[in-house]
Amino acid sequence: MGKQHWKPGNMLYPLPAVMVSCAREGENPNIITLAWVGTVCTNPPMVSISLRPSRYSYGIIRETEEFVINLTTKELLQAADYCGVKSGRDMDKFKELGLTPERAEILKHAPAIAESPVNIECRVAEVRELGSHHLFLAHVVSVGVEERYLDKAGKFDLNAAGLVSYSHGGYFVLGQQCGSFGYSVRAGKSGGKGKGSIKKTGCKREKPTETRVRDRKTGNLSRDGRGKNRK
Ligand SMILES: Cc1cc2nc3c(=O)[nH]c(=O)nc-3n(C[C@H](O)[C@H](O)[C@H](O)COP(=O)(O)O)c2cc1C
Repeated sequence: MGKQHWKPGNMLYPLPAVMVSCAREGENPNIITLAWVGTVCTNPPMVSISLRPSRYSYGIIRETEEFVINLTTKELLQAADYCGVKSGRDMDKFKELGLTPERAEILKHAPAIAESPVNIECRVAEVRELGSHHLFLAHVVSVGVEERYLDKAGKFDLNAAGLVSYSHGGYFVLGQQCGSFGYSVRAGKSGGKGKGSIKKTGCKREKPTETRVRDRKTGNLSRDGRGKNRK
């Protein structure tokens, strides 16, 4: 069997399905679900989102130049799908879904979603009007993480949160971990060559490595689960 060649289109999957919150004065805060989302730079930390100008959220984000990317878990999935098919023009999605708008640490207008384990506060740096979608490049100005996923030593096990991804029209909950950054060349522990290697047919869960996150209340830095794997 060969391959078919289709006309150009988007087939880059899986993607995150995130809940982006935004707000402007005098209106209810809103949530829009987005999959056209990406990490674009480590230093300075920057992300992108792509929006159709017809979205209610578009005008809010364009005007306030702020938004929060809230990661979606299995528990939030139904709400995320709802926020991706209903418009804030017609309803208060926070209220309708029983979600809590929480004051962001740095941003002035956009709230975080309290029920999401990770709130990435973003300030727009640039908008590129590409076509059907406009690309918003934004600086990450603060990251709030749910303490429930921090152990006593400050290790952040984000993968325990049951994060959701979106692939070709379907939602999937992250499940079995099949390796970690660089494992294919790492000897020993869980590496590709040494003892305890992950076999082609099997997967095993690995302990997270560390990096630093800021505590929302105290402002103190503590460790999280990404360590040297930064790209
Ligand atoms: C899984 C999923 C991913 C989506 N991704 C995007 C996206 O990346 N960009 C976009 O403009 N709309 C996207 N949408 C559609 C919007 O979420 C949808 O039109 C929403 O109702 C707009 O809300 P608003 O009018 O309150 O802003 C997506 C919807 C779903 C369900």
